[in-house]
Amino acid sequence: MTTHPDSRPIITLQGHILRQQSQFPEASGTLSWILSALSISSKMIASHVRRARLQNVLGAAGAENVQGEQQQKLDVIANDILLRTLGGRDGVAIVASEENEEPVILREEADGERRYCVLFDPLDGSSNLDVCGGVGTIFSILRYDRRARDAHASVLQAGAQQVAAGYVLYGPSTVFMLTVGQGVDMFVLDPDFGAFMLVERGLRTPAANKSYSVNEGNRRSFPAGFQQYLDWAQDNGYSSRYVGSMVADVHRILLKGGVFMYPPTKKAPQGKLRLMYEANPMAMLIEQAGGKALTAPGQRILDVPPQDIHQRVPVILGSADEVDHVVAALTAAA
Ligand code: AHG
Ligand code: MN
Ligand code: MN
Repeated sequence: MTTHPDSRPIITLQGHILRQQSQFPEASGTLSWILSALSISSKMIASHVRRARLQNVLGAAGAENVQGEQQQKLDVIANDILLRTLGGRDGVAIVASEENEEPVILREEADGERRYCVLFDPLDGSSNLDVCGGVGTIFSILRYDRRARDAHASVLQAGAQQVAAGYVLYGPSTVFMLTVGQGVDMFVLDPDFGAFMLVERGLRTPAANKSYSVNEGNRRSFPAGFQQYLDWAQDNGYSSRYVGSMVADVHRILLKGGVFMYPPTKKAPQGKLRLMYEANPMAMLIEQAGGKALTAPGQRILDVPPQDIHQRVPVILGSADEVDHVVAALTAAA
């Protein structure tokens, strides 16, 4: 028996970005340079995530590590890494993080140069760290508009304006999902080489899958339509899957299909998830993979006009047919 060597090309994230960039002769390479900062940040964060528990246990007593430094929470460490790597890129005008009250202006736009705003949730699902569960980083990239009156105004753009979005999942492997508006591509970090390798191009989310992902502990405080949807789904043989880390939950939906929801609750009338750092980038990925992402029946997340950089929105996203089932229940209950 003869075995045929695998002849598929080996493409890294960096190579993929350069190839995409070469299709746009007018592209200056600025966006590629920003994506490479996100790539190196995620490798650094992945390494901290892997060692998180060891550092807690093997560090010196109290909250100090072996160097006598205060041990920082990983949200803060991840945030610092992103601020420092992106801070070194000329193409970044403004960064806005879930962890910072205000957006940070790094530099204004010079004539003839295009600059960007990068928004991120440095560590999503951080409560899962204690139990060795999947956590992630979510990012959203917008064009910087130098006519905007201040930093807030320049980042307050609807999700439909995003030029790129993605997330990194720090799980059993480190996965980098990216869209620049031409479908969704998936990369996995090869720990031996330290490079993200392209494993799937133009990923499509299945149109249907009998699976929902929601914090059912809040069920009684959901609006009636969501409760009726859950009754319907349970009568129809649906499975429930919920990690409590948006990156891990949405990753499953992207690959396997189903619907992810964070509905309004009595305590949180706009739900819990943040429009700019969580809902918008995930909505762009899901739509680019052929799914749907709504905040209410007939209202795309990507069309929500942002009022505040930290605002929250209800989220319903995933396989087109599964989102339609939720919409049908919400509409019937209205
Ligand atoms: P973060 O860790 O960035 O604050 O985000 C946590 C979010 C999100 O990852 C997840 O979908 C949601 O919180 C879970 O909330 P509940 O615990 O209320 O279900
Ligand atoms: Mn989060
Ligand atoms: Mn977070």
